[in-house]
Amino acid sequence: MARTPDQFPPFGPGRHLLSVQQLDRAMLGQIFELAEVVDPIAAGTVRCTVLDGAVLGSLFFEPSTRTRLSFESAFLRLGGEVTTTTGFTFSSMAKGESISDTSRVVSGYSDVMVVRHPDEGSVAEFARASVVPVINAGDGTGEHPSQALLDLYTLRTELGRRGKSVDGATIAIVGDLKYGRTVHSLMKLLTLSRDITFRLFSPPSLELPVDIERYVVERGHRIVEADSATEAVAGADAVYATRVQRERMTEEVLTSANVTGNLLNRAMLHEADAEEIIIMHPLPRDSRMDSFDLSTDVDELPGLSIFHQTDNGLRIRMAIFLVAMGCSADAVKAATKNQSWDATLDWD
Ligand code: ASP
Ligand code: CP
Repeated sequence: MARTPDQFPPFGPGRHLLSVQQLDRAMLGQIFELAEVVDPIAAGTVRCTVLDGAVLGSLFFEPSTRTRLSFESAFLRLGGEVTTTTGFTFSSMAKGESISDTSRVVSGYSDVMVVRHPDEGSVAEFARASVVPVINAGDGTGEHPSQALLDLYTLRTELGRRGKSVDGATIAIVGDLKYGRTVHSLMKLLTLSRDITFRLFSPPSLELPVDIERYVVERGHRIVEADSATEAVAGADAVYATRVQRERMTEEVLTSANVTGNLLNRAMLHEADAEEIIIMHPLPRDSRMDSFDLSTDVDELPGLSIFHQTDNGLRIRMAIFLVAMGCSADAVKAATKNQSWDATLDWD
């Protein structure tokens, strides 16, 4: 029988990671600590073989740059091997094979699987048929738990640098709040902190789903609706901007959302007296003209954290594998030695 996210067992060794609802503060602490331990491995300054002999099955049925490559790099950097398939065309799903059969087959070749699929709930379906742990790398408009973990890790680090903590923070979330799964996972994950104020702005038809709003409010956090991105960022500690998820909406929804121009740019931050704000985005940023996304004119601002997020993604995804595969920090350290090469860029 299908389980809802609140019925999934807590994440841990030998467990799937399908929803942030499987995480508690203790597990967050463990993942973040492991992310620190693997830092030199992620940076390529030391070599690790803790996952020697392990095979990752990487299945991506939707476009991806950072999630697929960082999960795969994470596994390789920990000493494992990767098998991968991308898109429906190059798997036997193109011949009508079901999720269930596909999952059972690939799990027989792998020790852990990472799966992205366009349908909400589909990765849980993969998990039901799998004989190894499955990590959700994005299921339609549902969730993207590893992204939420790297987002929270980055937010915590950036706030920490400013002498602040996530508890009590005010976070503006702007853009497509309806179809953006990273928003859904991040807002739910942030409820593990205390006293968060969310300042939300979305165009018409792209508002936050009521179940996410209820989840957040029932856990004692505050949601404030703003009429513009400028109003949302005023007084916030951080802003999380998101792309319009055009691939998930009908022409009708897209037309009523009326999304053109910039979602957020430097002039808006200036007007809101927020040029120092922490700027986050799950990426990709839609850099085409009038795409209604975060403008590149914010890139020189001191709070720009989008590439800290992507770099942290590697560490966090290493930590996720270590937890799912039952490896301790001590096991990692014991399997680590100095690199014999140095690829530090020397180029002016
Ligand atoms: N890359 C993120 C996702 O797959 C966000 C996005 O595509 O806009 O959910
Ligand atoms: N943030 C994110 O999931 O990026 P990709 O879609 O490129 O994997």
